[in-house]
Amino acid sequence: MVDITSLEKKFQERIDSEIKIEPKDWMPDAYRKTLIRQISQHAHSEIVGMLPEGNWITRAPSLRRKVALLAKIQDEAGHGLYLYSACETLGVEREDLIDQLHSGKAKYSSIFNYPSTTWADIGAIGWLVDGAAIMNQVMLCRTSYGPYSRAMVRICKEESFHQRQGYEILLTLSRGSEEQKAMLQDAVNRWWWPSLMMFGPNDKDSTHSAQSMKWKIKRKSNDELRQQFVDITVGQAKVLGITLPDPDLKWNEERGHYDFGEIDWEEFWNVVKGNGPCNRERMAARKKAAAEGQWVKDAAIAYAEKQRKRKTETSRVA
Ligand code: 3HC
Repeated sequence: MVDITSLEKKFQERIDSEIKIEPKDWMPDAYRKTLIRQISQHAHSEIVGMLPEGNWITRAPSLRRKVALLAKIQDEAGHGLYLYSACETLGVEREDLIDQLHSGKAKYSSIFNYPSTTWADIGAIGWLVDGAAIMNQVMLCRTSYGPYSRAMVRICKEESFHQRQGYEILLTLSRGSEEQKAMLQDAVNRWWWPSLMMFGPNDKDSTHSAQSMKWKIKRKSNDELRQQFVDITVGQAKVLGITLPDPDLKWNEERGHYDFGEIDWEEFWNVVKGNGPCNRERMAARKKAAAEGQWVKDAAIAYAEKQRKRKTETSRVA
């Protein structure tokens, strides 16, 4: 009879001695389950995150901006594929994960349910959304699950370009006409608070954080990462000459951090529950892409089947 308690004890000792957990290692079912949950939702976020930006490929103001945006969106698709592959090492089928997204069973980051209504939004997404994602993903490079940590190292290399191209768009607008400066301020007003929500609920309300910290899936808590993001971003906002939409934002010498206002958690949970401005549109777009792309999957599966049959025949003849 397998003694689960001693297996769990050995598992935790591996975690505590910073030994990465690999797919073939024994792991508690709950560890596997929470990783499937988090990695699949991370992958879904990368894929759905392509939609608000895709809206501006044909409207980019110059060839240079269009090329950078195309490259970024292509990167995001790749990030999604790395993460689905990392998730599959935990014994799940990619098809099932995507079905969970389309059925509403699986979440994706609430940030992607907001509309990108002006070109400045593309700058704000790069600067704030990718900036927040980097804060989180750099921490996840040290996550205890090997395949997830290695996927993060690869992804983080591309994220810094994403953030920088977004900030450069905003810097250009900040040096432009009054209308361009107004467009910049409007975009930041709309993306600032949803970007802070990307780090998840406050620690006291976080379902998974305590256990995820014990298993070193998370190395920093939601609030720690959020605070780090605010502290770094306020200085960057000053260079852009904009005002962040939070009257409570001010440096606290004693804490050595910026104090900031309370997040509208009602809005957050409303969007997470599917009532954001673009939730329905995003899911419809994903389902349409899946339906229209089904023939590619069918062709690849048919080809693989034919190759398998040919190989079996050849080995039978030989
Ligand atoms: N949007 C939607 N759901 C969210 C959320 C958000 N911003 N923040 C938290 N939630 C959900 C959690 O998934 C959890 O629900 P579940 O049990 O059904 O999964 C619930 O709210 C409670 O939150 P917890 O804090 O307990 O959940 P976690 O411990 O999983 O922490 C997290 C949330 C910090 C987002 C963590 O899951 C994480 O680090 N995920 C990996 C990073 C990620 O997914 N980033 C999303 C953006 S990817 C991106 O921006 C791509 C870039 O290239 C543009």
